[in-house]
Amino acid sequence: MPINDNEKVLIGKFVQRLPIFKNLSDDNLKQIINEFSLAKFSQGDSIFYQTDESTDLYLILQGSVRACLQNEEGQELVLTHFREGDFFGEMSLLDGRPRSATMIAQDEATLAVLKRNKFLNTLKTEPMIAIDMLSALVQRLRKADEMIESLAFLDVKERLVKYLLEIAASEGKAVDDGTIKVKKLTHKELASRTGASREAITKVLKVLIFNKAIKDDGNYFHILKASP
Ligand code: CMP
Repeated sequence: MPINDNEKVLIGKFVQRLPIFKNLSDDNLKQIINEFSLAKFSQGDSIFYQTDESTDLYLILQGSVRACLQNEEGQELVLTHFREGDFFGEMSLLDGRPRSATMIAQDEATLAVLKRNKFLNTLKTEPMIAIDMLSALVQRLRKADEMIESLAFLDVKERLVKYLLEIAASEGKAVDDGTIKVKKLTHKELASRTGASREAITKVLKVLIFNKAIKDDGNYFHILKASP
């Protein structure tokens, strides 16, 4: 979708804040903003699939998306979530190889899209982008190491507790009874976020609820601030 002037201003606002473009000269910044197009997705839409041959870079202007791996039975492992202001698609952008993961819109999402050749042209004149991109990639690698560590060394209960405490810290709301409430997730969603089977999550949740480490009020999980 080509962009109008208002959308250009919006894209400019986000591009300027992106760590990978923070060292761009004003001229190159203006130029690259003009190269973006817009794409809109509804909740649940796939933006692209793992092994697709596309190589565009995406910047989230509104909404959130998840990067995941899926097996033939439809089981899903969520690698990460990206939110407003984040970028993704840098792996195929950089090496020109197929997509490493499937990307799904978590809710309605508006994305700014940059073609690989436009990015590479800018990279040639502004090599600092490469350093800033490396730093962003290393941050993602560190988080991926953390995930490998959890999958290798923690059992399902420990992984679930770790995940619940993480979302309690990042998006939870404190409640008067000393718990933190987070929007309830289905057992399938919890399974895909912790690399466990749905059945294993069901068993572990039952134990956590029985031990009063978590309360399920139908819409929210209430999580004890201390480790459940
Ligand atoms: P790309 O391979 O082009 O398309 C899928 C995208 O998902 C990938 O680029 C990254 O932007 C993102 N991605 C893949 N694996 C991970 C990961 N382990 N951590 C964070 N982001 C990832």
